[in-house]
Amino acid sequence: MNYKDTLKINEKGHLEIGGCDTVDLVKKYSTPLYVMDESYIRNVCRAYTKTIKKVYGYGDCAYASKAFCCAAIYTVMQEEGMHVDVVSGGEIYTALKAGFDLKNAHFHGNNKYESELDLAISNGIGTIVVDNLDEIDMIDKICDKYNVKQNVLIRSNPGVEAHTHEYIQTTRIDSKFGFSFKNGDCLEAIKKVIASKNLVFKGLHCHIGSQIFDKNAFALAVDVMTDYIKKLQVEENIIVDEINLGGGYAVYYTESDPKYNVEQYCEYVETIADALQKAVDSKNIKKPYLMIEPGRSIVGEAGITLYSVGNIKDIKGVKKYLAIDGGMYDNIRPALYDAKYEAILANRANDKNEEIVTIAGKCCESGDIIIKDIELPKANRGDIVAVFTTGAYCYSMASNYNRNVLPPVIFVNNGKSGYAVKPQTYEDLVRNDIIKVEME
Ligand code: LLP
Repeated sequence: MNYKDTLKINEKGHLEIGGCDTVDLVKKYSTPLYVMDESYIRNVCRAYTKTIKKVYGYGDCAYASKAFCCAAIYTVMQEEGMHVDVVSGGEIYTALKAGFDLKNAHFHGNNKYESELDLAISNGIGTIVVDNLDEIDMIDKICDKYNVKQNVLIRSNPGVEAHTHEYIQTTRIDSKFGFSFKNGDCLEAIKKVIASKNLVFKGLHCHIGSQIFDKNAFALAVDVMTDYIKKLQVEENIIVDEINLGGGYAVYYTESDPKYNVEQYCEYVETIADALQKAVDSKNIKKPYLMIEPGRSIVGEAGITLYSVGNIKDIKGVKKYLAIDGGMYDNIRPALYDAKYEAILANRANDKNEEIVTIAGKCCESGDIIIKDIELPKANRGDIVAVFTTGAYCYSMASNYNRNVLPPVIFVNNGKSGYAVKPQTYEDLVRNDIIKVEME
């Protein structure tokens, strides 16, 4: 467990987050419940932005909103002076609902629809990260319609691939994302943007992966990107004004991961900013504006999910299951990626672990297991299970599988709590259903 900041065990032996006792939260909001520590999120945002300003002096931090998306998070980002990365019409719409100024947003996607580009451009999106040659024509046409110019970055594929603890430099050009440097695709895209009527070429983007621990992978990406920027400058007389180096900083899930506090998370940003400054100096390139776009490391450890223990199935001598009132519909990551989590009994946080159990979800699927073989005190029906580090890619990847309603999301801060997303109702589930299909 990575107890830190407001996440702790209080004097009653209950788990506490954001100054709120989780047992009280469950009394008030019931389970299952996503809980997000708002002050943690704000602290990380401030620390990342400060690090960029301190180490590099010229850049900003965007929050990759795919990690956790709802109107309230855009409100927080706006208040913190953050930029955001959006990847769909739905994320753009949500940001607009929250009153987020889209000039501080950039739009990603390998297959942006014309309708999504229209929504983005007509609402003044700051930057579009182009990932296809056809997209350039679409943007040009829409800009004509609104009589505007559009800043764009080109999503590049620098051939640096990182996965958790390992990274490799490859010559692979078969990714569905980005234009490769190696085969000339990136240059072709840049030239097409420059030749277009309404697109303004601002620079390059890359994102080398997610949940990456090794900071050297980011430094390597900076090196490869700035080599290419130098080449553009010298051979093509093309100047790159902006570089966006994506996100991907790994967070703590289980004991096999490093435990970082907010300052240590900033070391990812420091490594990038420092490598970029050094490359600018040593390669003699124009200093580009730096953007980063982390998601997981901003919200991941800010979130916990609270469940109630329901049925307990003890297959004597074989296995004991604790079934909880949630599962793969609110956290698909164990089923999808074999992702590992830690949990405790939030109402008996100081009790001794006595047995090994498997925490099972309630979906009709054997693979709906949230944690396999975890040591816990002997649990009873009604005990509260808290699963940690569920702030990123849980709510945002949730579904209504088995027609389960999505749990609400609450924000906690300084002893107070409130809904960020209200509970779904059964009526929400059937809202768009047609009872008897009328054919014509
Ligand atoms: N920028 C781009 C272009 C991305 O594709 C992503 C994540 C990010 C930024 C943010 O990366 P982060 O800082 O959150 O690692 N569903 C998976 C993660 C997919 C990440 C997709 N792209 C999971 O649950 O682990």
